[in-house]
Parts: sequence; C-alpha cells; structure tokens
Amino acid sequence: MSATRKISLTGVQATGTPHLGNIFGAIEPALNLQKTHTTYYFVADLHALNAVRDPEQVRRNTREVAATFLALGLDQSNGAFFRQSDLPHPELMWLLSNSISLGDLFRAHAFKAAKDKGEEGTLHFGTFAYPVLMAADILLYDADVVPVGRDQAQHLEMTRAIAQRFNFHYGETLKEPKELILTDVAVVPGIDGRKMSKSYGNGIEPLRSAKEVKKQVMAIVTDSKGLDDPKDPDACNIFALYKLFASTEEQEKMRAQYRAGGYGYGHAKLALLEKIESRFAPARARYEALLANPAEVARAFAEGAARARPAANAVLARTRKACGLA
Ligand code: ADP
Ligand code: TRP
Repeated sequence: MSATRKISLTGVQATGTPHLGNIFGAIEPALNLQKTHTTYYFVADLHALNAVRDPEQVRRNTREVAATFLALGLDQSNGAFFRQSDLPHPELMWLLSNSISLGDLFRAHAFKAAKDKGEEGTLHFGTFAYPVLMAADILLYDADVVPVGRDQAQHLEMTRAIAQRFNFHYGETLKEPKELILTDVAVVPGIDGRKMSKSYGNGIEPLRSAKEVKKQVMAIVTDSKGLDDPKDPDACNIFALYKLFASTEEQEKMRAQYRAGGYGYGHAKLALLEKIESRFAPARARYEALLANPAEVARAFAEGAARARPAANAVLARTRKACGLA
C-alpha cells in the first residue's frame, strides 16, 4: 500500500440486493478508484439493523452486497473490503458523540422525515444516531474521499462538522473527508421515476437472473402513448436508464426514434435490456457462484478485517489518547 495514495472509503448498507442506483451511484465509482487510491470498502451491516429485523435476512443481504462488490471487480490488494461489524466503528462512534449536538441531529433528513409524519416519538435511537455511526465509519480510516450518491451529501457535511468540533476540542486528530458525487449518475431513477431505492421496491437488480431482470425492465412505468405517437425521450424513465449505458451516438439515435414515432416503449425496453445484459451477464455468473459458496465470502471478509484493522486501530488509539483515555 503506497503511503502517497489518497484514501477512498465507502459503505453499502446490507438492506437488499444492490440495484442500478447503488451500482452506478456508488459501487462502480468506488471500484474505479482502486486504480489510484487506497480503498476501504465495507458492508454496513450495523446500519442495516435499523431497517432489517430478520437476522437471516441481514445475513443474506450482507452476502449479496459482498458478492456484488466481488463480482464487479473488487480487489483487496490496495486496501480492504470488510464487514462494518468486524471493526471498532461503534467505539469511535461513542468518542464522537460529544462532538455533535441534538440540534444538529434534529436537522438530519431521516429525523425530519419522521417528524413530518408525526413519528419522531417512535423513531429508534439507531436511526437518530445513524449519522454519528456513519461519521465513525469514515473518520476511522482517515478517508480523503467518499464516493456516494447525492442523497448522502448531508451525512458527509455532518461528518466534517463532527471532525471539526472534535479537533477544536482536542487538537488536530481527525481528517476531514470530502464526498465524491458523480453528477451524471447522482440520482438514478427507479422503474416508477422516483429515485431508485431498495425501500421503494422500484429497482432493477442487474445481477439477479436474466428472467428477473427482464421482468423488472418490462415493469418500467411509461405514459400511455401508442406505438405510432412521437414521444419525449427526456420525460421517459426507460431513456433515463438507457443513458447510463449508451454512447452519445446511441443516445442520439434513440432520441430521434422517440421523436419520430413508430418506436414503442417496448422497443426501448428491449434496447435497455440488451445493454444491461451485455454489461452485467459476465459478473452475474461470478455473483451466483459466490452466493452458492458462502465460505468464499466469509474468507474475503476475514481477509478484509485483518487488512483494515491496523488503520482502524491507529486512528482509534490516536482518538482515545486525544480524549484522555490513554
Ligand atoms: P437505497 O437507497 O436503495 O437503500 P443505500 O442507501 O444502501 O440504497 O445506498 C447505497 C449507495 O448507493 C449510497 O452511496 C447511495 O447514495 C447510492 N444510491 C442509492 N440509490 C441511488 C440512486 N438511485 N442513484 C444514485 N445513487 C444511489
Ligand atoms: N449511509 C449510506 C447509505 O445509505 C451507507 C453508509 C454507511 C456509508 N456508512 C457509510 C456510505 C460510510 C459511505 C461512507 O447509502
């Protein structure tokens, strides 16, 4: 691991099978950074406990997220790939918890959403404290950049605020990270046009079986224009997804077909499906093999935890010392 490389870090919650939003918004940009950065990537299984109550589901989701990273080309040689719960994230979280006020946590999107629904009284502490655990995830590895979707920008702001406050009290200890948001994929739309999200059930999960992926693509919501009608590509969910895969020329070609009429949404869906298949079919075979062999995923986690531990322990020791615990 070269000392001059910047550090990239990201986490994906173990809340379901990764979809195109996760893959284009976070996983692939993160994997691309392997060439230039030291990379710490992990499955956020502690965060997943906020949303998933079924222990077997937590285990399955964790394996699926791991298999996605591994199938899409994760390589541990320049960093580590691990499970959040295998490292001392909660301990750093506690050390950070006096560097953020309730007022700041009340401004978090998740808290505000609960408040707007009149549910702040029943919101769990885990959800309320989510941003502090996330700050610990990031600060524990001295991350420079955090590749994430746009929805995570507030969490990065809070992470910086926590680091600043801690450093103000105790002297320069924690490194302030920056988010890395790729604008053209900042929000991948789901099959219903809202942000693609596991919690909306509007995803396309390209590593699932070809049959399941086809079903998801065919379920993309469109307006009711007929085959012959001219159509507006920029108002269409299929086109928005197609753009993620297609070259500029291919996009222009499909735009022209939409505008000319005589080109149905069914045609566009098949063109999109073809793109998804040619891009993801090879990784799918590897993904399925990994899911069929949980021991291989467990081995990758064990290796990742061992690789991540020295960095985490160094920051933790520094932080403990700064607060007077050592
Ligand atoms: P979900 O919203 O489906 O629960 P997560 O919250 O686990 O997904 O997100 C994992 C990563 O994928 C985060 O960095 C997040 O910003 C990114 N991400 C999630 N959905 C999208 C999307 N529709 N477009 C772009 N990035 C996304
Ligand atoms: N909150 C992120 C999400 O919902 C997941 C996450 C947890 C994360 N810890 C992180 C992302 C640390 C980046 C860095 O997608």
